[in-house]
Amino acid sequence: MVVVFLGPPGSGKGTQAARLAARAGIPHIATGDMLRSAVKNGTELGRRAGAIMDAGELVPDDIMIGLIRERIASEDCKKGFVLDGFPRTAAQAEALERLLAEKGFGLDAAVNLDVDENRLIERMKGRSLAEGRSDDNPETIRTRLEEYRRKTAPLAAWFDRKGILVNLDGTGSVDDVARAVGGALARLDTASARPRQGAA
Ligand code: AP5
Ligand code: MG
Repeated sequence: MVVVFLGPPGSGKGTQAARLAARAGIPHIATGDMLRSAVKNGTELGRRAGAIMDAGELVPDDIMIGLIRERIASEDCKKGFVLDGFPRTAAQAEALERLLAEKGFGLDAAVNLDVDENRLIERMKGRSLAEGRSDDNPETIRTRLEEYRRKTAPLAAWFDRKGILVNLDGTGSVDDVARAVGGALARLDTASARPRQGAA
């Protein structure tokens, strides 16, 4: 099974992708987490990405595509994976389609979590108090939302044309949303890890 979580900053991609991946026994691949860990470890990638993330902008496509190419080549991705925060641009979506085709995988679903903007901002403010993520400040949140609207939101229509878009209300409790995700993907359970043609 390969599932992508779309949705604006704070919509619950990370929360729900982690749950789904644990339930399905496949890796949760979160590009934001990978970048934050690179920043923390002071790697070359971290040095390039840190300032861009703090500004709320998107890290260049070639870097992100290279990161995902390498990650999904790992042994633990053989049965599928849950992507959280990738793809975020048309170029990334097209690259993902190619990478999956090379591996003989189809993309089963793109889950788009819908949450109104005031609530997104409240959630990120809450997290900034709890965790102190450096991009959860009002100015950076504004840029992140704008980047999302301009570059990532249009991907929903792209996935819809492929017939794999799942739009879900992300405003209920974490359990409510997880149940909705589970319900929407239930039809995929039996197809798990089976290569599919033409879905991506
Ligand atoms: P990334 O880490 O992906 O951040 P984001 O997209 O801004 O999203 P968040 O992680 O803030 O929110 P989320 O949707 O995961 O929600 P969460 O579950 O945490 O990216 C960070 C940066 O990295 C980007 O700005 C960019 O610079 C760079 N980057 C990453 N990927 C990239 C790519 N592919 N291309 C280019 N650049 C890239 O929930 C949010 C909060 O709400 C939490 O506190 C959570 O506990 C709470 N919450 C969750 N669900 C609920 C619920 N149902 N009810 C109440 N509270 C909830
Ligand atoms: Mg996240």
